[in-house]
Amino acid sequence: MNPSHKVRVLFDEAAIARRNEELAHMIVSATSPDLLVVAVLKGSFMFAADLIRALHRMEATPQVEFIHLSSYGTGTVSTGNVTILRDIETDVAGRDVLLVDDILESGRTLSYAKDLLVARGAKRVFVAVLLEKRSKRAVTIEADFVGFSCPDMFVVGYGMDVAHNFRQLPFVGVVAHGTSEPDLFDDRRP
Ligand code: IMP
Ligand code: MG
Repeated sequence: MNPSHKVRVLFDEAAIARRNEELAHMIVSATSPDLLVVAVLKGSFMFAADLIRALHRMEATPQVEFIHLSSYGTGTVSTGNVTILRDIETDVAGRDVLLVDDILESGRTLSYAKDLLVARGAKRVFVAVLLEKRSKRAVTIEADFVGFSCPDMFVVGYGMDVAHNFRQLPFVGVVAHGTSEPDLFDDRRP
């Protein structure tokens, strides 16, 4: 994948920022004050960073942890095997935990993470995702907080990648192949 391909914007910066404030409001209302946020790396890093700052603006004081899970390798098709590449360091027993991920697709990644935290004694495990692709669900899991419903296409940006490219984009988009449409974001511009 050549990172200089153009990207068609699906969810722009302003829409994401507005939605993050709404999500933070819902999260604060539904969870306990000693919330532990667990961001699922790598794809959620930008969403998690914005969401926890939105939580802060609502006077929440979450602790923040990271778990690095992998089910994809560098391809675009889920293998179904989830492995822990890096675990959290916090004891979750008796705590409210909010798992934060970029996309809920087959559900295997978040289902694995949720089961893991429940098995470790978490009191309640909530799930927040920026995007949800409902048509691809393979296991039974629902997100408690969903940013946007995502069309069934491979998306990039705002932390999400294809083969490590496009994570830096401040919006969510779709890589456009072989098009010269002028309204597309051009990643080659200086
Ligand atoms: P699931 O285990 O099938 O639900 O896969 C969810 C994970 O796959 C997400 O956390 C993403 O890291 C990755 N993923 C799924 N769809 C996309 C996409 O369209 N773009 C980038 N990553 C994706
Ligand atoms: Mg992921």
